[in-house]
Amino acid sequence: MTTELAIETNGLVKIFGDNRAVDGVDLAVAPGTVYGVLGPNGAGKTTTVRMLATLLRPDGGEARVFGKDVVKDADAVRGLVSLTGQYASVDEDLTGTENLVLLARLLGHAKPAARTRAAQLLEAFGLTGAAGKQVKNYSGGMRRRIDIAASILNTPDLLFLDEPTTGLDPRSRNQVWDIVRAVVAQGTTVMLTTQYLDEADQLASRIAVIDHGKVIAEGTKGELKASVGAGSVHLRLRDAEQRPEAERVLSAALDATVQLDADPVALTARVNGHGTEQGAAEQAARALAELARCGITVDNFSLGQPSLDEVFLALTDRKGVAA
Ligand SMILES: Nc1ncnc2c1ncn2[C@@H]1O[C@H](COP(=O)(O)OP(=O)(O)OP(=O)(O)O)[C@@H](O)[C@H]1O
Ligand SMILES: [Mg+2]
Repeated sequence: MTTELAIETNGLVKIFGDNRAVDGVDLAVAPGTVYGVLGPNGAGKTTTVRMLATLLRPDGGEARVFGKDVVKDADAVRGLVSLTGQYASVDEDLTGTENLVLLARLLGHAKPAARTRAAQLLEAFGLTGAAGKQVKNYSGGMRRRIDIAASILNTPDLLFLDEPTTGLDPRSRNQVWDIVRAVVAQGTTVMLTTQYLDEADQLASRIAVIDHGKVIAEGTKGELKASVGAGSVHLRLRDAEQRPEAERVLSAALDATVQLDADPVALTARVNGHGTEQGAAEQAARALAELARCGITVDNFSLGQPSLDEVFLALTDRKGVAA
């Protein structure tokens, strides 16, 4: 049995002048999941989302949302999706309550139902105390929460969150993450764009990394991490003067590029380990023995999975990728 995909794109293209902002993107997003779209500034994230949300017409390829074509069945798609944009849509001069009630009325709720829904969401998002304040007086975190609240007045089948936590402090980011988890628990599929790897790591079950309008990697977090090597060693030397020698020994033992950290006694290297954690552990152990044999004193050593940050840097800066 095949389950209908929440999003399916084939060769999706958007061109602005001579800029191929989205350049042949293929995506498949399973329903009920958080799908992360990760990429640097200008990668094409917002443009992709705007095409999927029917706000922008593709110049090539095709895209379907729950089987409905975003161009031919645009009205049907609009009935299924909701978008919280990078640049938000609530009215600054209205209060939190006024914004939500107004939007709920526009969605066709009768006045009492609109008021009830607004109050429910304000409560759920920790905004009851700010309900009567104009949105222009909200903090960044409150503002982002009211934006998301506005986009889930009706529970959408598919919610696009375009960089929902950019510029937020850690506490506000955590609140938004909790909201995203709650939305998914209600059965909504979420497509989340972000520049933050830890955000994708926290929330997304699959991730597409895009750069210059193209998908350069796609998979689960584990798959993406494994694609740049099974592990990553971090070590600290007793003596900073031994670092150049340690770099040579490590790089030969691991057959990898060694990164010199800002801390003058620290080094980091990816361990290929033939793709397995056990292989990585054995290789790291041999490298340590080799360091000892060369008289290099290691004070601290750890072997971990590469972070998504390392994955991202390796993917977007090709010279770092393990062959
Ligand atoms: N309406 C537009 N007209 C012309 N060029 C555009 C338009 N929208 C986006 N672009 C260009 O398309 C490319 C992709 O932009 P997009 O906004 O999709 O990137 P993004 O991944 O969302 O970046 P950011 O992380 O900065 O939000 C950029 O080069 C951008 O300048
Ligand atoms: Mg964007």
